Amino acid sequence: MLGKVMANPIAALLEILIDMKNNGTETIPIHSENLAFLRNPENFTRNSSPSDPVRREILSVPGDGVAAIPSPDHGGKKIRSAENISYPNNSHSPQKFPSKREHWEDLRQRIFNNELLKQHVRPGKKLVFGVGNLDADIFFCGEAPGADEEVQGIPFVGRAGQLLTKIIHAMGLSREDVYIGNIMNWRPEMDTPTGNRPPTQEEMQFCLPYLIEQVEIVRPKVIVALGATAVSGLLGYDKNRKMSSVRGQWHEFYGIALMVTFHPSYLLRNGSIRMKRIVWEDMLKVMERVGMAISEKQRNYFLES
Ligand code: URA
Repeated sequence: MLGKVMANPIAALLEILIDMKNNGTETIPIHSENLAFLRNPENFTRNSSPSDPVRREILSVPGDGVAAIPSPDHGGKKIRSAENISYPNNSHSPQKFPSKREHWEDLRQRIFNNELLKQHVRPGKKLVFGVGNLDADIFFCGEAPGADEEVQGIPFVGRAGQLLTKIIHAMGLSREDVYIGNIMNWRPEMDTPTGNRPPTQEEMQFCLPYLIEQVEIVRPKVIVALGATAVSGLLGYDKNRKMSSVRGQWHEFYGIALMVTFHPSYLLRNGSIRMKRIVWEDMLKVMERVGMAISEKQRNYFLES
C-alpha cells in the first residue's frame, strides 16, 4: 500500500511522492497550481513537526525556510528533490469561461495572487503579465521583464520594447493589434541593483504554463519567439541549437506556427542595416502567414541599395 495513514493527507501524499522517487521515479507531471500548493508551507506544516522527514524533504530550504524555485546561483549544488518534479507543459484549466476576457482575467488574478511568484518580485516592483488583443493573429513572446517592465508591470516598454513597438508599426499594426508576453512573469533576480540576466531553464519552466494558457486564450495564428532564450523556453533547451539555423524558420508550439527571430535588444547592440533586414524578412514571413497585405514599400524596407 502506498503511504501509511497520517493525520495530514498532504504529508501522506508527499510521502508517496518520496517513495516513488526512492523507487526510481524521477519526474511526474503535476499541475503548476498543485505544485505551488504543495510548496506552500502554510498548507501542510500545521500537523507536521519540524523533524518530520517529509516536511524536511519538501520544505527545507536553507535561509528563509520557504520552498522556492531554484535560484540561478544554485550552481553545481544538488537541487532539492522537490525541484526534480517536472513542471507541466500544459496547465489547461478544466474550468470553462464564458469569454476569452474572463479567462484572461482569471489567469491574471491567479498570477498576481500566487505567493511563489510574488516572492520573486523586488520590493515596490511588479509582476508582469501579457498585454494586447485577445483575438490577435500575432503573439510576440520575449523572455523576461527588465527594469522598466517591472516598474510598469507591462512587457516590452523599455528600450528593447520601444524597438519592438517600431517593428510592429512597420508591419502596419499597433501594440493593441497584437499580443505581447514573456515566458517569465518576474524580472530574474540579480545580486546587483542594475543589469539583467537571462532566466534559467527552471525558472522558465515554472512560468511556462502561464504562457501556454495565454496562447490557449488568444489562439494566435503565429507566435514570434524573440531571441534564443525565448526559443529555449518555448522549444526546450538544446545545447546544439544555433540561432543561425532556427532563426527565420517555421517551428511549432502547441500546434501553432512559431517564427524565431532575434531579440530587439540584440538589434540594439547590432543594429546594422543587414541585421535589421534579416529581422524584417522574418516579419514579412509572419505577415504573409497571417494573410496581411504587404506593400511594395514594406517589402523593400532595409534593403541596401
Ligand atoms: N526583454 C524581454 O524579453 N521582455 C521584456 O518585456 C523586455 C525586454
